[in-house]
Amino acid sequence: MDLFEKVTSNMGPLGARAGQAHGYYTFPKLEGEIAPRMVFRGKKMLTWSLNNYLGLCNHPEVRKVDAEAAAEYGLGYPMGARMMSGNTNKHEELEQKLSDFVKKESTILLNFGYQGVLSAIDALVDRRDIIVYDAESHACIIDGVRLHQGKRFVYAHNDIANLEKQLERATRMAEQTGGAILVITEGVFGMSGNQGDLKNVVALKEKFEFRLFVDDAHGFGTLGETGAGTGEEQGVQDQIDLYFSTFAKSMASIGAFVSGDKNIIDYLRYNMRSQIFAKSLPMPLVIGALKRLELLQTRPELKGNLWKVVNALQSGLKDAGFNIGTTASCVTPVILNGTVEEAMNLTKDLRENFSIFCSIVVYPVVPKGVIMLRLIPTAVHTMEDVNETITAFRDVQQKLQSGEYKKAFDGVEAEL
Ligand SMILES: Cc1ncc(COP(=O)(O)O)c(C=O)c1O
Repeated sequence: MDLFEKVTSNMGPLGARAGQAHGYYTFPKLEGEIAPRMVFRGKKMLTWSLNNYLGLCNHPEVRKVDAEAAAEYGLGYPMGARMMSGNTNKHEELEQKLSDFVKKESTILLNFGYQGVLSAIDALVDRRDIIVYDAESHACIIDGVRLHQGKRFVYAHNDIANLEKQLERATRMAEQTGGAILVITEGVFGMSGNQGDLKNVVALKEKFEFRLFVDDAHGFGTLGETGAGTGEEQGVQDQIDLYFSTFAKSMASIGAFVSGDKNIIDYLRYNMRSQIFAKSLPMPLVIGALKRLELLQTRPELKGNLWKVVNALQSGLKDAGFNIGTTASCVTPVILNGTVEEAMNLTKDLRENFSIFCSIVVYPVVPKGVIMLRLIPTAVHTMEDVNETITAFRDVQQKLQSGEYKKAFDGVEAEL
């Protein structure tokens, strides 16, 4: 059998819809300056799907520094992996400043969050160790766990009683194998917007011996008094053993980091394969991250504006009778009921007739029969944007409930 024939005969649950969806529902192209209103297929749309929480993507100071750094260094410098020939004072300065900000001793930069999490997990555990992780963890955690050759136990999402049960099992297992335990959760879960129950997770350290890794991709920059994330928000930052975040959201760039005590970060520096065997972050990204971090620390009004928009959107949606689940962060899900076909009709209507662009999540990411519209508010959205969206959502919900979207999907001009 030919390998390619075999794999392409089943494109997977999302790929199977490519013929109907590519370029519209999947792989859409948003054009123009990154802002709340961007162009989709020639038409300006109010956009709620970019993780540009603090609006830094297009901040004039950020754009200037990015451009100057690119002009000075190009995208090549430094060449090689950090360990071989790709280290610079700027990389180390950024690590130091990130450590100071998230109140940890030390930090290692990562080229990408996804690879970094995978590789950190891989470096931390061997076949004798046990991983205990939240069931709704991001793909990078799941894939890191898949690399693990030892035992793993999953606990029901944010269910501390279940986590305790899994820790009892893990502890018994660790006694047999002579291994240790790593617990992994997210600070903010990117689909539901729930905060990981970090307070109660760390409380279990009194009863069990484990180390805690927190992926705070959505919490960094958006939560906590200084913006240092979910650990700061819940007052438990000092009990998170490894604190991870990406530059792909609040920092509006590429790259990531993990922070912790110096000895464990030194260990990761010499053992994380994604960093040892890959070229280091290009200088413009490092200098750009320094600028973003400075703004994050010195312009509290960015986070203030973000939360004004978040609060107006979330309370407006709730007042209008929408189910926004249990979010405790900026991530704003709107949970509706309907088939995948209805979801496609609804989204097309939202885009074509209301000029609103948001992400849509359907089965298998959410259970069958659920349609989730996922809104990401940012500091640069306005109250007008919020009101326009709530009015439009009222209209489409009415149409959904009256069965108007049950009609056969009449398609979009797909590009594949
Ligand atoms: C929770 C979480 N962890 C990790 C990542 C991966 O980060 P990156 O985009 O830097 O690879 C993401 C997505 O960006 C995420 O949402």
